[in-house]
Amino acid sequence: MLTPFLFFLWYHLSKTLAETAAVNFSKENGLDLVVINPGFVIGPLLQPTLNFTSEAFMSFIETGKEVFADGIYMLVDVRDIAIAHILAFDKAEANGRYCIVGDVVRSSEIKMILDKLYPNLGFSQRYKDKCVEAQLYSISKVKAESLGVDFTPLEVSLRDTIESLKEKKFMKL
Ligand SMILES: *[C@@H]1O[C@H](CO)[C@@H](O)[C@H](O)[C@H]1NC(C)=O
Ligand SMILES: *[C@@H]1O[C@H](CO)[C@@H](O)[C@H](O)[C@H]1NC(C)=O
Repeated sequence: MLTPFLFFLWYHLSKTLAETAAVNFSKENGLDLVVINPGFVIGPLLQPTLNFTSEAFMSFIETGKEVFADGIYMLVDVRDIAIAHILAFDKAEANGRYCIVGDVVRSSEIKMILDKLYPNLGFSQRYKDKCVEAQLYSISKVKAESLGVDFTPLEVSLRDTIESLKEKKFMKL
């Protein structure tokens, strides 16, 4: 399962190993384990400080600097992740792993939505010539929806992310 390629991606590797260890532990101890694997989490912030992830996303919004070199974002709203955890605890039939990803989009699509939501902030000017065109892929929502997750529309997530960043005075737009 661990290809040499993975060893360059320490963050991903550590998460994969942690999941495998949890699966092993639950098997050895007869526990009913359900795994929630979120995409890149956006949405309103609960915590008082910006962590590395939220800071990178804010910088992307403000300057167009990509968080991911290929310009592809697997986004999910933090509130959908919270509900997924509750449903996974609540439902006896919950099993295995759930990939909770709302939308896989190109950065150009995010920028277009931001422009539509905030026409006065001149995002398209800021973002000029920074478009990446990588191959898009999709992640099935079928299993997440079978758990009962009703995904927040991307526009709503992006708007609430920005409103939260503004309210907490992290973003100076
Ligand atoms: C999980 O169990 C497998 C099979 O016993 C073992 O090869 C692997 O090293 C274990 N992984 C972790 C992270 O504990
Ligand atoms: C930052 O916080 C978000 C949500 O609060 C979380 O999903 C993410 O994993 C955190 N990033 C890091 C690098 O700890």
